[in-house]
Amino acid sequence: MARETVKDASADQGVSPAEVDAVLDELGVGLDSDLISVLQDVQERMGYLPADVLQGVSDRTRIPLSRVYGVVSFYAQFYTEPQGRHKLKCCRGTACYVRGGEGVIEAARNRLGVEDGESTKDMMFSFETVACLGACALAPVVVMGDKYHGMATPDSIDEMIDEIVDAESNKEETN
Ligand code: FES
Repeated sequence: MARETVKDASADQGVSPAEVDAVLDELGVGLDSDLISVLQDVQERMGYLPADVLQGVSDRTRIPLSRVYGVVSFYAQFYTEPQGRHKLKCCRGTACYVRGGEGVIEAARNRLGVEDGESTKDMMFSFETVACLGACALAPVVVMGDKYHGMATPDSIDEMIDEIVDAESNKEETN
């Protein structure tokens, strides 16, 4: 029997002006700041790059907002939407594709109930497909958080997700 997806709650995406100021103050963002470093630091701190923060970065550095967005959209490492607590990346590269990667991607998409680039509404998981992860010998490859999993299958995806869901519900029970 297919397991239920975990996409079922709503996420809070608001960032107040005070929060924006606090983050940018804390990171010392100003005219001399290096844009990419600032964006990396903000994302490290907040988990993603909210629009209000990007505006704040533009204001403080006097770098035009269009350029800030240009940099954010150029680099795959930056996210403008909140990300789940666990990021699942599935390789869509050729080596993975020919060894069944498409089925693994499909299994992840179905299980989480999200499309490429989306997060579950409870913000437990984010899902994205990515270009070659550099471990083709282990194809198909997925990364959950920062851990690589080779020879992935639809079943192993299910097990990975089960493990995290169980661990999170155990954590909730003990709190
Ligand atoms: S093609 Fe998937 S790891 Fe290289």
